[in-house]
Amino acid sequence: KLVDLAHYSHYMQKEIFEQGSAVANTLEERITNNCMLEIETFGDQVEAVRILACGTSYYAGMVARIWLESMGIPCEAEIASEFRYRNPVVPDNALVVAISQSGETADTLAALNQASKLGYKYSLAICNSPFSQMTRVTDLVLHTRAGPEISVASTKAFTTQLVSLLLLMIALAKRRGMTVDEEAEIVSELRALPSRIEALLQMDKDIAELSDYFADKEHTLFLGRGTHYPIALEGALKLKEISYIHADAYPAGELKHGPLALIDAKTPTIAVAPNNHLLAKLKANIQEVRARGGKLFVFSDSGTPIKSDELIEVIEVVKSGPFTSPIIHTIALQLLAYHVAVTKGNDVDNPRNLAKSVTVE
Ligand code: AGP
Repeated sequence: KLVDLAHYSHYMQKEIFEQGSAVANTLEERITNNCMLEIETFGDQVEAVRILACGTSYYAGMVARIWLESMGIPCEAEIASEFRYRNPVVPDNALVVAISQSGETADTLAALNQASKLGYKYSLAICNSPFSQMTRVTDLVLHTRAGPEISVASTKAFTTQLVSLLLLMIALAKRRGMTVDEEAEIVSELRALPSRIEALLQMDKDIAELSDYFADKEHTLFLGRGTHYPIALEGALKLKEISYIHADAYPAGELKHGPLALIDAKTPTIAVAPNNHLLAKLKANIQEVRARGGKLFVFSDSGTPIKSDELIEVIEVVKSGPFTSPIIHTIALQLLAYHVAVTKGNDVDNPRNLAKSVTVE
């Protein structure tokens, strides 16, 4: 490999630990003390956004959809392999955003092609590979500066995608009345993010200690709400990919509509539980699991009023603002999946049946 492992055991581990600097690089020259410097977008011409991507990159899109909507920008996020075979209604002045680490994913490229045939007016690629095919077919490119990602399981590409999507959100929202103060608040969260990531990474040993519990499990359920539901999906995907434990993620409100039937003493649940406006609702869902004798691992942040007991283990991650908390929680779940895979003796960087970049349909 062209990239040295340094003192790390696996590329995935190295890439998890590089996320503080990857995020700092992605932000460099794009923000100042309290505002975002211009990034090239289509600004006030954009009236609606459609995000297309696969796998982990799609989950970044799901988070961004909630962000953009909260700024009054209509947005849909869709799996590229589905979009490419549909004929959806295209809103006026719509921007299509493709998200991809590799820039070579066949379905995402085909979905972009479909979008241009359907008449999407503007296109943007959020991409980690500056010379990839994707960067040649869109009008604009926002480069995530994560550096080469070698491990099949995506880590730093995802977190820098989220950072880039926040920049896109600010760029579009500024034209729709986002105030200077609102912008400053998000920018200050972003500026604090690299050091918060470093602080989170200090939890590596604590999270590693959880891996024995999971190593002999066959199923795990992940729960989240709002912007942290896609993070639950991402946590489940990481665990599936490298530890081969079947993992499913649900928006926590859906528990009663089916997945609760799966809960027993052998099926642990991981709840992504930041202390935000949805916590009270999530707490009720946590109790539903607990009442069925299911073991819970609750990834909270400081101040989350949930206590550990014989069935609930609270893991308190670093507190961060509402926009960057999905990133912090993601990294905790990356570490968990990594350590479970290591404990099981799996080939962490090259999981069975998977390729780093999926260039065929
Ligand atoms: C993530 O861990 C996966 N290996 C996979 O889902 C990946 O995110 C997906 O194949 C999309 O790849 P891309 O970002 O290069 O387009």
